[in-house]
Amino acid sequence: MQIVTHKNSEKVYEAVTKEITEATKSNPHIVLGLATGSTPVGIYARMVKEHRSGGTDYSNVTTFNLDEYEGLAGNHPSSYRYFMNDHLFNHLNILLKNTHVPAGTGDLAAACEEYEKAIEKAGGIDIQLLGIGANGHIGFNEPDTPFDTKTHIAYLAEETIQSNAKFFADGQSVPSRAVTMGISTIMKAKRIILVALGKSKAEAVQKTVAGPVTERHPASVLQRHPHVTLYLDEDAASLL
Ligand code: F6R
Repeated sequence: MQIVTHKNSEKVYEAVTKEITEATKSNPHIVLGLATGSTPVGIYARMVKEHRSGGTDYSNVTTFNLDEYEGLAGNHPSSYRYFMNDHLFNHLNILLKNTHVPAGTGDLAAACEEYEKAIEKAGGIDIQLLGIGANGHIGFNEPDTPFDTKTHIAYLAEETIQSNAKFFADGQSVPSRAVTMGISTIMKAKRIILVALGKSKAEAVQKTVAGPVTERHPASVLQRHPHVTLYLDEDAASLL
C-alpha cells in the first residue's frame, strides 16, 4: 500500500487529477471506476478544467460508478447518476452510453448481475477511485459486509445516512438502502486510488493502513490488494 500525503486538499486534488488524466492519455480506452460524495468533487472540477484547456480526450473512456441509492431515478437531484452527470460527464467529451451508474429503480437484483457482467465485458476496471466512510466503508459496503460480495443491495449504516443527509433537500430522507459494487468487485480493479481528507477520516485511515484485515473495517481489505495508493491530506494522515 503506497501512501502519499499532501499539505492540503487542493494538493491532493491536483495529484489525483494528474494520475487519472495521465493514465487516460496513455490508455485512451481506459475503464475508470468512480465515486461520489464530497471527496471527489474537487478532483472532478479539475478534470473538467484540464479537459477544457485542450487536455484529455474521453471519447473512448468507459466508467463504472460504485453505487446508487435505492428508489432514486437518474433524474432525481440527489441520485448519484445526477451527481456524476452534473459534476463530470456533462462537461467531458465522454459518451453517456459509456458511463455506468448502478440502477436505483426497477429489478435491482437483475441489475446487480448485469452490472458485474458489464464490468467484465469492458475488460475490468483499470483504476478505481474510492473515498472512505468514517466507519471504514468503501462504496456502500458497511462494517461486517463479507469480503466476497459482488454488486448487491446494501443497508446503509445510521452514521452514513446522517452524514449523507447534506446531499438531500430539506424534508427529504436519505434512502436506507443502496446498490453498491461489492468488496470483491472493488478488489478486482487493477489499480485503486483511495482519497481521504480531513480529521474525521483519520481513524478510518489508520485502521485501513495499520489495523487487522477484518470485515469490521471494510477498507482494511485493501492491504491485500497489490496496487493501492492512498492520497491523504495532513489531517487524514494525522494518526499514521
Ligand atoms: C461514494 C461512496 C462512499 C463515499 C464515502 C465518503 O460513491 O461510495 O463510500 O466515498 O462515504 O464520502 P465523502 O467523500 O462524502 O466523505
